[in-house]
Amino acid sequence: MLHSASLNGIPGEAGLPLLGKSLDLLRNPTQVSDDMVRKYGMVYWTNAFGRTSVTLLGPEANEFVLMDRQRNFSSKGGWDPILGRLFPNGLMLRDFDDHRAHRRIMQVAFKQPAMAAYVEKLNEGIRQGLERWEAEGDFRFYQAIKQLTLNTAASVFLGMPLGPEADRLNRAFYDSVQASVAVIRAPIPGTKMWRGVQGRKWIERYFREQIPLRRGTDATDMFTLLCNAVDEDGNSYTDDDVVDHMDFLMMAAHDTLTSSITTLVYHLCRNPEWQEAARRECAALALPADDLPYERLGDLQVVEWCFKEALRINPPVPSIPRCAVREFEFGGYRIPAGMTVNVSPGYTHRMPSIWSNPDRFEPDRFSDQRAEDRVHRFAWVPFGGGAHMCIGLHFAYMQAKVFMYQLLRNYRFHLDDGYQAEFQVMPIPKPKDGLPIHLRPLKEAA
Ligand code: HEM
Repeated sequence: MLHSASLNGIPGEAGLPLLGKSLDLLRNPTQVSDDMVRKYGMVYWTNAFGRTSVTLLGPEANEFVLMDRQRNFSSKGGWDPILGRLFPNGLMLRDFDDHRAHRRIMQVAFKQPAMAAYVEKLNEGIRQGLERWEAEGDFRFYQAIKQLTLNTAASVFLGMPLGPEADRLNRAFYDSVQASVAVIRAPIPGTKMWRGVQGRKWIERYFREQIPLRRGTDATDMFTLLCNAVDEDGNSYTDDDVVDHMDFLMMAAHDTLTSSITTLVYHLCRNPEWQEAARRECAALALPADDLPYERLGDLQVVEWCFKEALRINPPVPSIPRCAVREFEFGGYRIPAGMTVNVSPGYTHRMPSIWSNPDRFEPDRFSDQRAEDRVHRFAWVPFGGGAHMCIGLHFAYMQAKVFMYQLLRNYRFHLDDGYQAEFQVMPIPKPKDGLPIHLRPLKEAA
């Protein structure tokens, strides 16, 4: 890590000895970026999590780094220190031609027929989950949606029924994701990293045992599709590839969906006029209240704006790291090869030069009339952009819509009067108290 006040003339500061700004970033990354911008502008360096990095802020920086027209940036180099030990060789940990080859095979699991089959399983899993919630009535939303998302993932991703095996898998994933941002990076027994490494071992063993049983079958879960996926040139995955990609996919899907749906439900509680508008839109489809078919997903415009607004306010991946493979120039600075470079959806999504009233929940800012997200192609970037843009983007919309449709058609939900959630941002946005919520069947609440 660097300790001088200036790096190639780039302004910035190291923070505390050894720790740099790690603790401040874990506590309040928004405050850190606001302070740094005030002191140094939109390009600055700092130390955190054992690395010196340069942060480039704003939509132009997002475009420059994510589109990477000059092939300056390695995604593997950026993510490796965070995810490499637990999710080695996942798609985000591959670069350039190797990355493109792996991504082409994975596309098979995200094509239209595959997606339509996932929607059926999602509808069923969500229906069962909501029935359990109804019996409880008052509960912590974050924990409940996390469990529901894990249960639906066991069925959609793995074709695995609910039960002790799914519970064990859920635990293993939970531990791996927690470990990805552990401050202590060595797997010393008892630490988060150690539990994460144990979790990864369990998952790996499970996948390896299952692969021969899945190859050549016609099941429609994502795991089986990846075992059998062949791209246009006849390329397919080895067993090792399937293990690495499945593990990574489950991780990439799980906490991002849990986080974004929690933010969405929180803001729909705080803005009951939007909850009602979304409910009216769902009812107007005149479909059964517990089943949203694939063909009608596109009809939920208001729900989509609300989800986009939740992703703007609390992007589940608030900062995206890369490693410079060569020296490059940006904003008048020369940034050396080998440097970690961050861009920040979290910062861009709050810039008053792009968003009017950025702190307010205003889903119609995504309407054709307001179109604030179209001020710049890289103004709204919860899914990243360029070669590594989220491959699960449509899956995310799909799950959010099926969930919201069933929730809105069957229940009203609210918080205690005057309640305001406090969200932690790192490792992923989440209400600190789990978001205590009240759910009432629609007929009863009317
Ligand atoms: C609201 C939900 C989600 C958000 C906000 C999100 C966000 C992101 C972002 C920002 C990236 C790019 C990171 C980078 O450029 O370094 C990414 C990549 C990725 N996401 Fe998502 N994601 C979500 C859901 C999902 C789901 C549901 C899946 C799978 C079903 C998924 C699978 C992936 C994969 C495999 C990559 C790596 C793509 C590549 O490197 O080519 N994500 N996601």
